[in-house]
Amino acid sequence: MNFGVEIGNKRLPNPVGVASGTFGYGSEYEELIDLSCIGAIYTKAVTLNPRGGNDIPRIVETPAGILNSIGLANVGVERFLSEKVPFLEKLPCALVTNVAGSTQDEYCEVISRLETCDSIWGYEVNISCPNVKHGGMAFGTDPDQTYKLTNSLRKLTSKPLILKLSPNVTDITIIARAAQDGGADAVSCINTLVGMVIDTKRKRPVLPMKTGGLSGPAIRPIGVAMTYKVSRAVTIPVIGMGGILNADDAIQYLLAGASAVQIGTGNFIDPKIASRVFDGIRQYASEHNLESISDFHSFLD
Ligand SMILES: Cc1cc2nc3c(=O)[nH]c(=O)nc-3n(C[C@H](O)[C@H](O)[C@H](O)COP(=O)(O)O)c2cc1C
Repeated sequence: MNFGVEIGNKRLPNPVGVASGTFGYGSEYEELIDLSCIGAIYTKAVTLNPRGGNDIPRIVETPAGILNSIGLANVGVERFLSEKVPFLEKLPCALVTNVAGSTQDEYCEVISRLETCDSIWGYEVNISCPNVKHGGMAFGTDPDQTYKLTNSLRKLTSKPLILKLSPNVTDITIIARAAQDGGADAVSCINTLVGMVIDTKRKRPVLPMKTGGLSGPAIRPIGVAMTYKVSRAVTIPVIGMGGILNADDAIQYLLAGASAVQIGTGNFIDPKIASRVFDGIRQYASEHNLESISDFHSFLD
């Protein structure tokens, strides 16, 4: 079985990655798991300047997932390069830096600075963050802005450029096509859905920003459906995510057309989940005589 996945001019040897914002900068998990089992680490979003993020509480549990309002808290691109990359670049997995910004110029500046670092495998461009006032989701809900941003980032790098799509739109395929037309090598599908939890005793939303991003098993059927639709609308690879807690969940995404998957909220439940999921995919492939990831795609029309 060949588990390699071509994205742009590079190859992921293992289709299971860990999702941005749920795996820190990798070192947080060093003592808990063997990091060599992971295909790719998608880092916490990196912005031009350090960001403190939103006020607390930033996470609230819901019956089948969590609502988060982190607000892109991160150390900023310069400290990312000097403090975080030296650990990440020693790992055998692909280092995909998740990039965010408030303006197109900010996204461009972050990628220009990251381009100085050869050990970064590629970029995942977050145009889908629901938890910031400026930028973020604004780029991922308007096809013109998606196209323009992708197109200007494309000129800055030959490394894999992955646009991370928002589910908070009427038709995700329009945004996916705009990303492809702008020169994206792949799309990630999906970021969190806007949700709200109200504290009835205080008669107020629990999160200070009022709404947050819903992730976890509650969003899995939405993620699978969007992956299915997007994979039929574009010719570039789709990386599926949303609520993957076991191999069967991940296999649903692969059968729906994903070429790779990411695990987010599941890392908070079981830090070893990525290797368990990869083992389960391998077992399923051998039981069903599937020779490559693209064989998973031949079941649906
Ligand atoms: C606490 C938290 C922080 C997140 N931060 C980011 C981020 O910085 N950039 C990003 O693109 N996605 C971020 N996400 C979204 C996840 O990467 C993923 O798209 C989403 O949670 C769906 O996957 P899951 O259901 O497996 O968690 C975050 C999610 C959570 C739960």
